[in-house]
Amino acid sequence: MTSHSDRTIVLITGANQGIGYEVVKGLLAHEKYHILLGSRDATRGAKAATEIDPTGRIVEPITIDVTDDASIQRAVDEVASKYGRLDVLVNNAGINNEFEMHFQQVQNQKDGVQEKPDLAKMRRLFHDAYEVNVAGAAITTEAFAPLLEKSTATPARIVFVSSHTGSLGLRVDQSSDWHQKLSSPSFPIYRSSKSALNMLTLHYAAKFQSKGWKVNASCPNLTATNFSRGNGRPASESAVNIVRLATLGTNGESGVYRDEKGVVPW
Ligand SMILES: NC(=O)c1ccc[n+]([C@@H]2O[C@H](COP(=O)([O-])OP(=O)(O)OC[C@H]3O[C@@H](n4cnc5c(N)ncnc54)[C@H](OP(=O)(O)O)[C@@H]3O)[C@@H](O)[C@H]2O)c1
Repeated sequence: MTSHSDRTIVLITGANQGIGYEVVKGLLAHEKYHILLGSRDATRGAKAATEIDPTGRIVEPITIDVTDDASIQRAVDEVASKYGRLDVLVNNAGINNEFEMHFQQVQNQKDGVQEKPDLAKMRRLFHDAYEVNVAGAAITTEAFAPLLEKSTATPARIVFVSSHTGSLGLRVDQSSDWHQKLSSPSFPIYRSSKSALNMLTLHYAAKFQSKGWKVNASCPNLTATNFSRGNGRPASESAVNIVRLATLGTNGESGVYRDEKGVVPW
């Protein structure tokens, strides 16, 4: 077993690109972290890890597909055999597979074409998005909980990467700056998956409260990644609050949903 007893071992899922990649870079600035860069594809993971840390001493790729139980278990076994524990888990992997359907709906509206929903397709999209965004995050958390139990960090931390678009509070609060943006009936699959993820955040915050773990959700805001087709702010800015939550001390919050400016209503 590799010692690393003086290091905080942190795993970020879906970190070979986008916001997760920037979280790895942000954590690199923190002393004494050993960063496991999660990627569902080993080659993409190795490339990203080498780009960020050519020495390979601080950033290490790890293959994990959050929709594949065998892949999750292999990742757990690898961390167990190398380090015997995990200190921080960042559930960042996420997808929005609704863009094509969304743009088609917008076009139909413009053309005055009566929408004919493809129910089978919609069911498939629901299944695939919930697999990654909801079940993937929950099962990864459950699978790594025994290694988080062995954490030597005080406190152990779990971060769920959520979205403002999953906030029921912002959706209904007409006085919020977000209301207009969020009140349009778009992306029901993605948005509801993030609302579900928010409930999981509260669930795990309560479940692990007695252990003193810090369990929180972060809202990245619209961020220019492949996910958003390049729209939004730089991913490095969206990584800031995730990195903060991943490095919280004993006085840090738990059971909170927020961005870098403050608390976001559930
Ligand atoms: N970008 C935004 O505007 C925005 C706004 C709010 C919230 N978010 C959230 O931020 C998180 C990161 O998004 P992003 O913008 O950085 O997207 P991204 O650039 O598309 O990165 C998503 C990452 O998730 C990985 N992933 C997808 N399916 C996976 C699976 N089954 N198992 C493991 N990893 C998987 C991707 O792997 P591959 O490279 O192999 O595809 C990729 O590494 C997501 O949870 C997203 O919902 C994004």
